[in-house]
Amino acid sequence: MIANCRRAAALVVALLAAGGPAAQSVDSEAARTFEALGLRAGLRVADVGAGNGEWAERIGREVGETGHIYATEVEGDKLQSVQTRLKEAGLKNVTTILGTQEDTGLPPGCCDAILLRMVYHHFTDPPRMRASLRNALRRGARLVVIDTEPQKNWRHLEGVPERGGHGINEEALVREMTADGFEVVARHDDWTGDGDRYCVVFRRAEGPAVGTLRIRSHARDRRGEWRRLRRIAAACKENGTGSRAACSPPRCS
Ligand SMILES: C[S@@+](CC[C@H](N)C(=O)[O-])C[C@H]1O[C@@H](n2cnc3c(N)ncnc32)[C@H](O)[C@@H]1O
Repeated sequence: MIANCRRAAALVVALLAAGGPAAQSVDSEAARTFEALGLRAGLRVADVGAGNGEWAERIGREVGETGHIYATEVEGDKLQSVQTRLKEAGLKNVTTILGTQEDTGLPPGCCDAILLRMVYHHFTDPPRMRASLRNALRRGARLVVIDTEPQKNWRHLEGVPERGGHGINEEALVREMTADGFEVVARHDDWTGDGDRYCVVFRRAEGPAVGTLRIRSHARDRRGEWRRLRRIAAACKENGTGSRAACSPPRCS
C-alpha cells in the first residue's frame, strides 16, 4: 500500500516536472506528427493555416538551419502573431505567407512535406486548395492532414461545404484527395485532441493530377479532330469537289 502511494506520488512529481499531462499529450502528438511528416534536419516544410504558430515553431526547430519552414495563414492578424512568435523564437529559416481561400501562396515544388492541422475543414474552396497544395509539393512529397469527424456542437463555419458539422468525415477526405492527385500512405484513426480526430498521411501521386489528365484528354480530342478534318480535306481533293461545305463528314469520311 505504502509502496503504491510512493509510486503514485513519484508519477505525479514526474508529470509536474514534465509540465503536466497536457504538455505530455502535446509532446506525444508532436512525436507522431513529426514521424508522419518524415521530419528531419534539412527538410523544407509548410504549416498551412498556422494559427498561433505553435506548430510552425516546433517544425522550424526540427528542420534546423539547413531546412526551411513556410507558415501560411488567411487571416492577417494571425499571420502577424506567427511572424512575431517565430522571430522571438530566434528562427531564421522562415517564410511567412498570407494565403487566400484559393491559393496557399507557396512557391511551386517548394516543399518536402506540408502539415494541415485542423485546417482542411475550414477551406471554402477545397478543389482549388487541393490543386495549390499539390503544386507546392515536390514529386512524392507528403501531405499530413490532421482533422476531426464532423462535430455537431462546434461553431458553424461560414462558406464551407455542408458536412453535417464542424469537421470532415475521414472517408470523404480520402475520396476528395485521391480524386485529385494524392495517394494514401498511412491512416491513424486514434489521434490526440478534442473532437474525434484522425490523421491521414498522403503523398503527391506520381501521375498527373486529374485536372491535368482532363486537359490532356481535351488536347488529344483536338488532335483527333484535326486528323479527321485533314482526312476529309484529302478525300474531298480526291473527289474533286473543292468545296469544304460540300465535304461534310457523312459524305466524305
Ligand atoms: C482550427 S485553426 C488551426 C490552427 C493550427 N493549424 C493549429 O493546429 O493550431 C484553423 C486555421 O486555419 C486557417 N485557415 C482557414 N482556411 C485557410 C486556408 N485556405 N489557407 C490557410 N489557412 C486557412 C484559419 O485562419 C485558422 O487559423
